[in-house]
Amino acid sequence: MFTFKRNQFQVEDVLVRDIVEKVGTPVYIYSKNRILDNFKLFDQAFNSLPHLICYALKANSNLSVARTLAVAGAGTDIVSGGELYRALASGFRAKKIVFSGVGKTKDEMRYALRAGILMFNVESSEELNVLNEVAGVMKKKARVAIRVNPNVEADTHHHITTGKQENKFGIHKNTLLDVYKNAKKLHNIELHGLQAHIGSQITSVKPYVELLTILLDFIDKLAKQGIVLKTLDIGGGLGITYDKEVPPTPQDLALALTPLLRERPLTLLFEPGRFMVGNSGILVTQVLYRKEAGEKTFVIVDAAMNDLARPALYDAYHEITPLVQDRRAQRVVDVVGPICESGDYFARQRKIPFPKCGEYLAILSAGAYGFAMSSQYNSRPRVAEVMADGKYWKIIRKRESLKDLIRGEK
Ligand code: LLP
Repeated sequence: MFTFKRNQFQVEDVLVRDIVEKVGTPVYIYSKNRILDNFKLFDQAFNSLPHLICYALKANSNLSVARTLAVAGAGTDIVSGGELYRALASGFRAKKIVFSGVGKTKDEMRYALRAGILMFNVESSEELNVLNEVAGVMKKKARVAIRVNPNVEADTHHHITTGKQENKFGIHKNTLLDVYKNAKKLHNIELHGLQAHIGSQITSVKPYVELLTILLDFIDKLAKQGIVLKTLDIGGGLGITYDKEVPPTPQDLALALTPLLRERPLTLLFEPGRFMVGNSGILVTQVLYRKEAGEKTFVIVDAAMNDLARPALYDAYHEITPLVQDRRAQRVVDVVGPICESGDYFARQRKIPFPKCGEYLAILSAGAYGFAMSSQYNSRPRVAEVMADGKYWKIIRKRESLKDLIRGEK
């Protein structure tokens, strides 16, 4: 959906340049059909099993992006009251919403119980007791999956691995059975499932097989104690290609996992975020200046780490390309933003076609954890977002104004 046609970079059937000339830069541009294709790929891969894909809203929570997935039939995985608000506003059915996170507040629990969500993924005994109490006051039953920390190595960046003992997530393997036994005694808790999420940008099926084996063992142990669960949620984490990674496809994942699940009366849940939207979005920026400094050449652009934080935060790789393909010389450059921090960069010592002043550059694979993690740091209004659909496109979030910067302040 993002390709060069006649040497011009396009999103679906639209010239990226046309969008940028009307909307300005920086701007995020998404491909609606790539999002839909990603969803279908995942959904169809697991067709032979009862399953529900709960898109991890944190990856990109724009209303139009979320609505695209909601209409396609996805559920969603949320992590805050704010995300619940967005999920409902974009049309996800409450019965397809799961609520994750280590620190849900009572207010958030009440909001989710009122909305009638499918399930809370509970991460501690104390949280379970509070949820029981809150549900009791509301005369409701909270459906619950307990998140286990399976101590599985996801083999990814240490900031985005979540299933190791030293991470704050989930309940320790050794205490899980006791937590379920105690939970069974709580009157306002309905034990529904088991959940785990081991990390993000996972590029092999191995950790998933290891995880599923551990989880099924728990399911069997629990069944022996009379606790029969209906859902098994293996989280998100499936990686995408940013550079040269070759992650498994959903089909590969299905081939590895489905044999373990046959004959089991379980609904399988997934919480993919990055896979759905990562390669469905780009960030387009304009070159402001070029600067030679001794050995180095800097290309200074109008986007910055506040707009796309991944390189600064995780040293993440995002491919960068001009919007035209030609035979110009390549040069090794640092692509940097205007923010007053050395960490404000998009590429270091990267060989790219040397751009002109005023030229546009597309930063690829920016659809996940791009706009969603953006801020107004350095008092930079947040950028516009656009969605393309075939030969049409529209603004799905207005560029913020200077007034937006001080909204609510005194
Ligand atoms: N479920 C849970 C409970 C999660 O914590 C996450 C992501 C997901 C699902 C979705 O994971 P995904 O399929 O997107 O890998 N900001 C980082 C990624 C942080 C992921 C946090 N949790 C980045 O830009 O790489």
